[in-house]
Amino acid sequence: MSELATAPRPSVATTASPPPPAGAESPIGPDTPAISAWPDTEQLYRRLADLVAQPMRPIRPDAMSKVLRWFDAHCQGSKQLAERACAVIPGGVQHNLSFNHPFPLAMSRADGPYLTDVDGNRYIDFLQAGGPTLLGSNPAAVREPVKALLDHCGPVTGLLHEYEVKLAELVCRHMPGVEMIRLLGSGTEAVMGAVRLARTVTRRQRVIKIGGAYHGWSDQLVYGMRLPKTGRMEATGIPRGATAHTQECLPNDPEALRRLLRWNRLRGGTAAVILEPLGPESGTRPVHRNFNAQVRALCDEFGALLIFDEVVTGFRAGMGGAQGYFGVTPDLTVLGKCLTGGYPMAGAIGGRRELMMSLVGGIGSTTRRAFVGGTLSANPLTCVAGYHALLETERTHAPAVAGRAGDRLRRGLDEIIQRRGLPYVAYNMGSVVHLQTSGVLLLDTSSLWKLIKVKAEAQRRKHMMEEMGAAYTAHGIVSVAGSRFYTSLADTDAVIDDALHRFDDVFALV
Ligand SMILES: Cc1ncc(COP(=O)(O)O)c(C=O)c1O
Repeated sequence: MSELATAPRPSVATTASPPPPAGAESPIGPDTPAISAWPDTEQLYRRLADLVAQPMRPIRPDAMSKVLRWFDAHCQGSKQLAERACAVIPGGVQHNLSFNHPFPLAMSRADGPYLTDVDGNRYIDFLQAGGPTLLGSNPAAVREPVKALLDHCGPVTGLLHEYEVKLAELVCRHMPGVEMIRLLGSGTEAVMGAVRLARTVTRRQRVIKIGGAYHGWSDQLVYGMRLPKTGRMEATGIPRGATAHTQECLPNDPEALRRLLRWNRLRGGTAAVILEPLGPESGTRPVHRNFNAQVRALCDEFGALLIFDEVVTGFRAGMGGAQGYFGVTPDLTVLGKCLTGGYPMAGAIGGRRELMMSLVGGIGSTTRRAFVGGTLSANPLTCVAGYHALLETERTHAPAVAGRAGDRLRRGLDEIIQRRGLPYVAYNMGSVVHLQTSGVLLLDTSSLWKLIKVKAEAQRRKHMMEEMGAAYTAHGIVSVAGSRFYTSLADTDAVIDDALHRFDDVFALV
């Protein structure tokens, strides 16, 4: 395994992945959907239930020792930096994404589909910084205008800049539910702002989320996170009052949502329902194809606003986001990540004009408005990067190209899983590829009793997922927490086939 992370691998699609289905290679154009087919969710849930019903299939202990030895032999530079980091950074990392078993890896280069660490090991990058780098890392089409702006303007002036307008126009042109946009600092901030805006315009307080979704780390939404029906399980340091008006519903259960909306109606109503349109945790629990439309109809019936959290799906699910893909228009849209192509300050609220006008700023303004702000929000650096990233995304049809790469990766994974007789489940929604090997996030937590029952098992399954992540890394693949893989415009067939050989090598260790 020692040479695996750095050695280029032959591209032999015929052995590791089946030929693409007929029609899959038709030319990509502006109308090609980013998600070629929505997964058969009924069948998927049956397979996921099977996965968690049977004993885990982790890496064999002897093989795992070899994986860990690979890190010691090849990643000393990272290890030393990680040890220094532990002295000055809580837990040694500034960001959850950087957790890596057995220790965080320090990257020094990011280029197209690859990351290279400080020790010179090269990895195929399916983490993509958690999603923003849909164009691949550091594309010149974004970097060069950013450099030019820095040369003549620097990152910030505090005053209006042409690129604020250009970026806003571009987003409004593409996203069906966005007539106006307010740029903020992050997805978390934008979710907070959208909820405040919904409460302002509806004059109601309750917000319903779909359990298990991640909407950032604001006080009000660290609730039912990752696992549905876990309520305040992770709300350490958050006063009860902050989540007093947050409620959760199981995904794919419109009847439960209806009951909650009805219950709320007797108590002052619901300001908004917020959801991730692929399903909680970017589709880790995928929604049925018509779930978003059902939620839309229920929001209309009960006068609640519908907020799509498109932090991941804008613009991975297409230039029109998941709202374009599903044909369901939310009242408010939250954006982040791809909005600025990986450059800092990626967050925005979009929506219908009459709603968005309650975000009108102005010192001393006396109109009724939801207060949001941020010194560096909508700075020229963010806006020039976002504008050129989105232009390039549009020009190259990146959502569809990356989606095809996701299809190829998933088909190849399916083939390896079947050939090796493993219980793992792979599926994708375009460029968002899920590979469930431990099924930890699929455990049934729908009641307190079930949650208590699965707690110890969840720990074991989580550890297995970390070990799978480590094995992928030692074989030259960087993933999102060992279970999710974002593909990008830079992922050519050769890159995907190379990755599939590496997955095959990892699964040989089970
Ligand atoms: C769906 C979703 N919403 C909100 C957020 C929070 O965004 P940020 O990390 O920019 O605060 C994330 C981050 O991963 C996300 O995936």
